[in-house]
Parts: sequence; C-alpha cells; structure tokens
Amino acid sequence: MCGIVGAVAERNVTAILLEGLKRLEYRGYDSAGVAVYTNDGKLLRTRRPGKVSELEQALIEEPLVGRLGIAHTRWATHGAPCERNAHPHFSGDLAVVHNGIIENHEALREQLKALGHVFTSDTDTEVIAHLLHEKLKVQPDLTVALKATVKELHGAYGLAVINARQPDRLVAARSGSPLVIGLGMGENFLASDQLALRQVTDRFMYLEEGDIAEIRRDSVQIWDIDGALVQRESVQYRDGAEAADKGEFRHYMLKEIHEQPVVVQRTLEGRLSQNQVLVEAFGPQAAELFAKVRNVQIVACGTSYHAGMVARYWLEELAGIPCQVEVASEFRYRKVVVQPDTLFVSISQSGETADTLAALRNAKELGFLASLAICNVGISSLVRESDLTLLTQAGREIGVASTKAFTTQLVGLLLLTLSLGQVRGTLAEGVEATLVEELRRLPTRLGEALAMDSIVEKIAELFAEKNHTLFLGRGAQFPVAMEGALKLKEISYIHAEAYPAGELKHGPLALVDNDMPVVTVAPNNELLEKLKSNLQEVRARGGELIVFADEQAGMINGEGTHVVHMPHIHDILSPILYTIPLQLLSYYVAVLKGTDVDQPRNLAKSVTVE
Ligand code: F6R
Repeated sequence: MCGIVGAVAERNVTAILLEGLKRLEYRGYDSAGVAVYTNDGKLLRTRRPGKVSELEQALIEEPLVGRLGIAHTRWATHGAPCERNAHPHFSGDLAVVHNGIIENHEALREQLKALGHVFTSDTDTEVIAHLLHEKLKVQPDLTVALKATVKELHGAYGLAVINARQPDRLVAARSGSPLVIGLGMGENFLASDQLALRQVTDRFMYLEEGDIAEIRRDSVQIWDIDGALVQRESVQYRDGAEAADKGEFRHYMLKEIHEQPVVVQRTLEGRLSQNQVLVEAFGPQAAELFAKVRNVQIVACGTSYHAGMVARYWLEELAGIPCQVEVASEFRYRKVVVQPDTLFVSISQSGETADTLAALRNAKELGFLASLAICNVGISSLVRESDLTLLTQAGREIGVASTKAFTTQLVGLLLLTLSLGQVRGTLAEGVEATLVEELRRLPTRLGEALAMDSIVEKIAELFAEKNHTLFLGRGAQFPVAMEGALKLKEISYIHAEAYPAGELKHGPLALVDNDMPVVTVAPNNELLEKLKSNLQEVRARGGELIVFADEQAGMINGEGTHVVHMPHIHDILSPILYTIPLQLLSYYVAVLKGTDVDQPRNLAKSVTVE
C-alpha cells in the first residue's frame, strides 16, 4: 500500500528518500515520486509509473538536489496508476504526499474549482494540496494552515507537506494512517513505516491519531487532536536485525516459508510451562477476563481470516466455546447482535489493516467483554487499541503473500484455545499436556515438511499450463485449502477455489475434467475415509489429483493421482503442517510462470485503506 518518506537535513536528501521508498516497496505500489526544495530555491518533482527503479533512473538522468524533500509510493485508489496521478501533488508552492482516502474529496474539489483552483490529477490527494493552498492565503504559517485544513477532511490520512516559502520544515498529520518521525543529529525524517528510515536513524517517535507535527532540522513539535502541544515518547531500536535481505533465497517468500520452524519456536518461547500454556502471555488481566468468556467473535481479513476459521474448529472442539468468524469488511458494516460475555478477537499480521481496525473500533461500541489482538507488530494501531495482545513473533514479513505470519497466527490461536479451556475448566483431561508436548515438537515437524521442497517443486510442473484449480479439505483442513487457493491465485494468477470436500457433488464437480487439477490435504483422521470417496468422485471425471496425505493414511500413487506423503502429526496441529506444502506449491508454480512472486500485481502488503 502507499508509502511516505520525508527528510529535512543539512545534506542532499534525494538518496535518503529513494532508499526509503525502496525499503517500502514490499508494501505494494504502482507509481512513485519525489519532490525536493532544491538548493537553488525551486520546488521540483519527478514522478514515474511503475517501480522505484524507474524513478531512480529518471533522477540519475536529471538529479534533484536539495535539503528538504518528500517522497511517495502510490497504490492507486482514485485514478489510474500513471504519472499524472502519482504523488507528490502540487498547488502553488506546496507539495503534498498522502496515504489513505479522503471521502469528501468530490465536494471539496467542487468548492476549490469554484475558487479558481485547477486540478491536474484524478486523485483525492490533490484536493488536500489546493485546500491547504487556500488556507495559507488566510494564515501564512504552514503548520497553522495544515491544522485548519485537516479539520475539513473526512476519511483517513497520513500526510506530509513541504512549502517552498517555508523551506525550514516538513509538516505532517496523522488520522487513520500511521506515521513515524525518525530522529537524527541535526536532521529529522518522516515515514509511514520506521523500516524506511533504518538506514539513517534508530530513534523514532510515533504520531498518534489526530496528531500534527512540525519537523525541522533541529526540532520536532507535535500537537494532539485537541491542539495541545504534546511530547511523544521516543523509542530506540538497537537490534538492527530487520532482515531486509533475501540471504541464500531467490525470493523473500521462499525465505519466509523456510523461516517457519524458527518463528514458530519464537512464538512459543516463554508461553509454555512444563505441561500448560501460560495464560499471562495474553496480558496481566487475561486470566480474570478469560474466566468470564462464554463466546468468541473473531474478525480479520484475507489470510488472517483463514487463521480465524481454523481457530473456530479448535475453540469449539477443544474448549467448548461457541465461536463466530467473519471478514472485517463485512462485520464493520453489519448490525451485529453480541451475545453476553463475548471476547472480540482480531487477527492481523500488520495491525494496520483498515477494515480490521474499523471493526475493532466498532466492537468497542457494541458491548463485547474485551478485545484481544493477535498481531505481528507490537507498535501497531491494533495492538495499541486492544485490551489484550498476543504478539506473534514472525519477524518482518516482506513477501506480499503472507506465509510465516499465518502459521504463527495459528500457533497464537491454539495457545488462546488452550488458555480459555484451561481457565474455564472445559478441556478434556490430559489434552493440554499432550498438545503442549506436540507444540514443542512442531518446529521439527515443520522442518520435515520443508525438506519436501524439491518434491513439491516437481509437482508444481503439473500446474504450469493450467488456468483453474480446485482445493479440497474437510474439517479444519477446509480453511487450509482456502489459504492454499488464495496463495496460488495471489502469486501465480491461476484461478483457484477451495471447497469443503463434501460440497463437491453439490455443484463444483461439474467443473472437473482433465484440465482442472484438484489439490487435497488428507491428514489421517476420522474424515479420511469420507475424503477418499470424494477423491474417487474426482478421478471418475478424469480430474488429476494432487494429495498431501499423512504417511499413515494408506494413500498411494496411481494413474492421475499424485500422493505426497507428509510426516505424521497430531490431528489438531495438522492445519499448521499441511499449510507448508501448499505455500511451497504456489511458490514454485509462480516461479515457473515467471510472475513477480514477492510483489504480485495489484496487491499491497498492508491494506491501510478500505
Ligand atoms: C494474503 C495476504 C492478505 C492479508 C490481509 C490482511 O497473502 O497477505 O490476505 O492477510 O490483507 O492483512 P493483515 O494480516 O496485515 O491484517
């Protein structure tokens, strides 16, 4: 999704801005631009559709040199991804970059046109530049004019602005879209994600909702939503360990798939005693709150939603707690009836997904018992705004398609299930101790599944010429099949659909022929025999089967049936293990098809707009 970088320094800032944009590339975007107040006193910009490397090339050919600048990667929402719509947008002596969506942009545009403003793009952002320009006529101080401007904006924004008439500063505003100030020595920076600035500083100050900031070379001032001058805490990161390189791997996605044993291990660390889950892992009030929980409502988007769907099977089967799961974009706009004592659980890798955040904010008005975030980013809005948190320890996920975030979310959700069951006394005897033991072995099992990498790579060849695929699963493997289908369509652009295997004969079987490979996950459980009959239905129609089956499931290769044997695992943990071959499959199919694996077309890493 869109990214912002800004800098005010004593040195030329263009290289800093470009490096920042490169570090934000993983979020997904379709054009990029930079505006600099040049050393000879001009406000100039360069914008390019496509990749940051194209912007960089343009800047090599015609450099912009100055000590104040802003830059942006745009993911199109209003208007096509072309140079004219790329940020920064100008009005008079102003340049503006913006993340988010201005909902009242049409009304503002009409008002501003009536005042003589001429628009050169189709974006909602351009109205901000013209509106601010208008305010500056009344109040020439940029910071004061920005405060007046944001009062008229409806929607979400993270904004950065420079003005050729006040080149001593960069001003910023946050509402619904994150911004962080990077603190340097005699120079300061701004970005939508601290990762963009790690090459220039390790000290950061996060803006809060409604904050306006004035950033000069040697000072930072922040006003809160009520206009009061405030101090925001600064944080220092010393680890320097934001793994921003691919190491031995060809793509971030493959690296992240292979990191799963380590990050699952990290997610478990400090959260298990000898034979129990430590409920305090969810926060000091967790035990008291969990004792009151009678229902669970899970809300998330995309891959995180699939993790929630697996958790529903666990919560109902193991802890006996009724659970509902819904995609956030539906939940937030629906009239929801909340059962008494319902725990609201949001799941998100980034913690900044607009729909999930909005759902949490709505939930607060609806009388839920408490809110819990299962999230991978400790400083995210979702974590800050939830009562309880469990941080997954996946580390930074750069590939747009989520992999290690998903499996660590599943681990977090199993810890939640066991904690709720433990506190409420609803777990069957011995279950917690058995599953704690199995969780300890999980990283090793995941390593075994990853060792099948080259077998899955070979299987991927069956898909290279195909346009459609079906994924089947039963029980908790149904959401795993959904996740497999999502991965395949995201990165290989092959149309893939997931069905509970029992639904096959109620419609989708009509699609099956020898051009439609059918992928199935088949752990050795009580649904195995039923699944085998479903697979016969596919074979009888000439459909080619790819089955990831438990080594003890008694499934063998045959004509049109390719069986990949998986290490045996406790059935409850099988959704975590069976995710691995599906991730590898989509990865290798995408590599064969030559798509942009880490930055698939039209997608963004962190969806901070609705
Ligand atoms: C798919 C994917 C997306 C995200 C979704 C939610 O591979 O990554 O479907 O899962 O956009 O994002 P988070 O988890 O950051 O809320």
